[in-house]
Amino acid sequence: MQVAQVNDWAEGPRYTTTDKLPAPSADEIQLRVLAAGAHQVVRSRAAGNHYSAKTLPHYPGVDGVGKDETTGKLYYFMHFGDRFGSFSEYVNVPRDAVVIPLPDGVDPVSFAASVNPAMSSWMAITQRTNDLPKNWTALIIGATSASGRLAVHAAKALGAAKVVGVARSENALKADKSLDGHIALKEPVTATDFSAVDADVILDYVYGDVTHHLLTTLKTKKPVQYVQIGTLSGTAEISLAGPLLRSTNITLRGAGPGSWRLSALEVELKTLVPAMAKWPALDAVNIPLKDIENKWNDRSIKGRVVFTP
Ligand SMILES: NC(=O)c1ccc[n+]([C@@H]2O[C@H](COP(=O)([O-])OP(=O)(O)OC[C@H]3O[C@@H](n4cnc5c(N)ncnc54)[C@H](OP(=O)(O)O)[C@@H]3O)[C@@H](O)[C@H]2O)c1
Repeated sequence: MQVAQVNDWAEGPRYTTTDKLPAPSADEIQLRVLAAGAHQVVRSRAAGNHYSAKTLPHYPGVDGVGKDETTGKLYYFMHFGDRFGSFSEYVNVPRDAVVIPLPDGVDPVSFAASVNPAMSSWMAITQRTNDLPKNWTALIIGATSASGRLAVHAAKALGAAKVVGVARSENALKADKSLDGHIALKEPVTATDFSAVDADVILDYVYGDVTHHLLTTLKTKKPVQYVQIGTLSGTAEISLAGPLLRSTNITLRGAGPGSWRLSALEVELKTLVPAMAKWPALDAVNIPLKDIENKWNDRSIKGRVVFTP
């Protein structure tokens, strides 16, 4: 069987032949892997930088879309096991891990690329906001990122009546027909007018100057729940004056593994995965697993990378 295997944390994954997988036990399901995403957490584990993967050899990949060859049924699966990796022709997934049947017609590559970015907003809203009013409004900073595009659908699936996107590219914002409004960032960012923002929830994938300018120029008197999710700006720190926090009804939180528990994600995936099957497919870059050694560190590849064993 062909798998990706990390033998040295500094080296990256190697395309390797291993023994055929044993037949699954009664507590496992065997899946032929069709697509597995190279998410940030997968890269971090493969470099030895993640608390959940400290043993060599390491088998990369934590999730994917696979087919049960005995029934022909497709499944989304996720498992963080020490000797488990989804960059493999076959996997035996414990039935008590995440194994969720997919409806017919799902594109395995797009789906394998999408669950990780989609869960960022889903977990932010379900775990890191509370008591939202009926028909709430969301503002997504970084709405043209893969995660931001899916956040529009997550917000609507979770009760948002209006979603406004913020990003640099006005053309990309206009092209996203799921958005109910948009604010294109100006250069410099401080020239952007946020005075009409009336969001109940702000999901932030960018951070840095945009966030500072938004929070310091918000005019709404509504309670606003701000959730920090990503740092696309590359700036991981901002400073907020005490009087600002005293004079606005704003709650600041972050969302990511650590601010919520893996067990909560496992529960939420049971609702998120079927919901996602109805959302527009996310573009993904499909790379054969046999090319992983050349493509793993190829910075010229733009978009979400998915390996197909
Ligand atoms: N906390 C979590 O659970 C979690 C999970 C997944 C991802 N994340 C984080 O979420 C962020 C988004 O990830 P992704 O993979 O979805 O991103 P992505 O698709 O790679 O994002 C690309 C987009 O980012 C925007 N961008 C880049 N630099 C920017 C800047 N300086 N200012 C404003 N926009 C900028 C660009 O949009 P425009 O040019 O149109 O503005 C570009 O289209 C990352 O920081 C990632 O680490 C967090």
